[in-house]
Amino acid sequence: MDWQQASCFLNGEWKPLAEANVSVLDRGFIFGDGIYELIPVDEVEPGMRAPFRARAHFERMSRGLAAIGIDNPRSIDGWLELLAQVIDVNRWPRQSVYVQVTRGVARRDHVFPAGVTPTVLMTSWPWPAIATEQLENGVAAITHADERWLHCDIKSISLLGNVLMRQLASERDAAEAILLRDGFLTEGSSTNVFIVSGARIVAPPKSNLILPGITYDAVLEIARARGAACEVRAIPERELRTADEIWLTSSGREVLPVTSLDGKAVGTGSVGPVFRQMHAWYQQAKRDDARVWRGLLPAFQRAA
Ligand code: PDD
Repeated sequence: MDWQQASCFLNGEWKPLAEANVSVLDRGFIFGDGIYELIPVDEVEPGMRAPFRARAHFERMSRGLAAIGIDNPRSIDGWLELLAQVIDVNRWPRQSVYVQVTRGVARRDHVFPAGVTPTVLMTSWPWPAIATEQLENGVAAITHADERWLHCDIKSISLLGNVLMRQLASERDAAEAILLRDGFLTEGSSTNVFIVSGARIVAPPKSNLILPGITYDAVLEIARARGAACEVRAIPERELRTADEIWLTSSGREVLPVTSLDGKAVGTGSVGPVFRQMHAWYQQAKRDDARVWRGLLPAFQRAA
């Protein structure tokens, strides 16, 4: 199935993605005034497709909507039910489900319009398998000053700062731009960043300067549950540059090793042992999470 033929849910109606339209006055289009989520769905065992940490994604979305004063159009369970439908109608074994809620359609005015209905889109597209090459050899990253605003914890659809940094990385044949603010690591343009330093897994703390990643939470939770040494603290630039390992985490990339930073080898320049261990644990966590999802499905009156 062509990705444009995906069935998408737009404001209460199901239609092919290519035929789904919103008004040019939608505040998402005019101001980037909205919140989004991207939820990974994988076939973790033959015939068993499941989203990873779906509830956490909708909880974060709920917080984002509240932060910008948009009434959440659905309950968390209502969102989960819609997610089950999107996955059901779009048959790809691996897919990224994309959810976007904007403030709605109104005459252009910076001030929030009264009485508008939020625009709701949920769709999905195929999610290609993460290249074995990247898992075996790692990827290159560059560093850049974090030039974004001071509410990076809100998963806003206004992504210009992120887009520009990611484009720069791409032009330099790098998979990601790792951002530094006031001498400290914040995150990647579309990922969270971890380092491994002397066998300890280190992550920068959540704050208004980084997105509280669902994968970030999962990685820390899994590592702690397995008894790995973890620290959450500010990471100075010097420590990033001398780390034994650097990882990127996101819903689309899962956990990905960075083996070159600004053209210099990270650690030994090959994929590290702590990453290999984490990658295996992460795949197991996806299988475990799929069982939780399957337990939910009967509640949505879908075939288990
Ligand atoms: N990006 N930081 C930023 C700036 C991000 O855009 C993302 C996700 C993350 C990781 O968050 P999570 O683990 O919840 O996916 C961190 C998504 C996938 C995107 O914009 O495509």
